[in-house]
Amino acid sequence: MTNTATEQTVSVIGLGLMGSALARAFLNNHHQVTVWNRTASKCGPLAQAGARVAESVAAAVEASAVIAVCVIDYDASDALLHTPEVAARLQSKVLVQFTTGTPGQARAAEGWAQQHGIQYLDAAIMSYPKGIGAPDCTILYAGPEKVFAAHQPLLSSLGGNALFVGEGISTACTLDSSILSFYYGSALGFLHGAALCEVEGVSLSDYQAIAVELLPVVGDTMKLSAEMIEKGNYEGAEGAIVTHAAALAHINQLTREAGVDSSFAECLSGYFAKAAHAGYGQCELPAVFESFFHRVARVD
Ligand SMILES: NC(=O)c1ccc[n+]([C@@H]2O[C@H](COP(=O)([O-])OP(=O)(O)OC[C@H]3O[C@@H](n4cnc5c(N)ncnc54)[C@H](OP(=O)(O)O)[C@@H]3O)[C@@H](O)[C@H]2O)c1
Repeated sequence: MTNTATEQTVSVIGLGLMGSALARAFLNNHHQVTVWNRTASKCGPLAQAGARVAESVAAAVEASAVIAVCVIDYDASDALLHTPEVAARLQSKVLVQFTTGTPGQARAAEGWAQQHGIQYLDAAIMSYPKGIGAPDCTILYAGPEKVFAAHQPLLSSLGGNALFVGEGISTACTLDSSILSFYYGSALGFLHGAALCEVEGVSLSDYQAIAVELLPVVGDTMKLSAEMIEKGNYEGAEGAIVTHAAALAHINQLTREAGVDSSFAECLSGYFAKAAHAGYGQCELPAVFESFFHRVARVD
């Protein structure tokens, strides 16, 4: 069968929660999908939806022009791919790695792919499985731009926002970890505030509604931070580190008095204290960035 821009051959290796969602989205977009999973029973629902089931990883690679891998980690992925028979079948094909990894793992995988003549993209999925295939689903891709561009229509089956983030292979997974750090940090901050409201009997729905309205302030701080860090200049007239440190001391006191676990509030205070101790006390909040580097001394 001849492939067209709207119908391509793609194999999905790894049918956990995420791999199954990827395979299903390819099927929903009328691509010819082959699947393989270590636990064969997980292939059943996809076979019923129209996927072909490969009997081995090598057979899955043989079946398609594009190979998507989505397993638990790079050790599992390497064990599946780094065999002579699989590597030989991957030659000249496109391998898209959806497994979450570190920048070092992405670089090592790219080096291995280049040695074997494989076109390699590293992907970072910014969604839960339920969001896969939706127009607003964001997936980041790093690697050769021409490989991404040639396969963008296929990759857009997985999410309307298929973003190419650069040829540096570690770019997607670095952004993934950075954005997750922001997500977990802000979610934990919200939950800490919820604990304070709970103890003081303040409505959680009011707290949530007011906090959501204030989100643009967070966006402004992010924008200002990126600008100040890039310039290496934290001077301003909005709020000094020492002023923020005083607000945090107050939050710490409230936290202790409420009998709420204080480790989160103390952690925040620690970073501000470290920045002030390093001489940034009169600088704007983004100067706390410096506290993340070992060149800035800890305050004990
Ligand atoms: N779920 C999410 O919301 C989400 C979001 C973004 C990124 N991701 C990434 O997507 C990847 C898969 O996540 P998931 O949610 O699909 O996990 P999952 O449901 O736990 O599935 C794990 C998959 O890895 C396979 N696997 C584990 N160890 C293996 C091994 N030694 N050899 C071969 N296959 C092995 C499993 O096969 P069996 O079925 O045989 O156990 C299964 O297919 C992870 O890297 C994760 O970080 C997930």
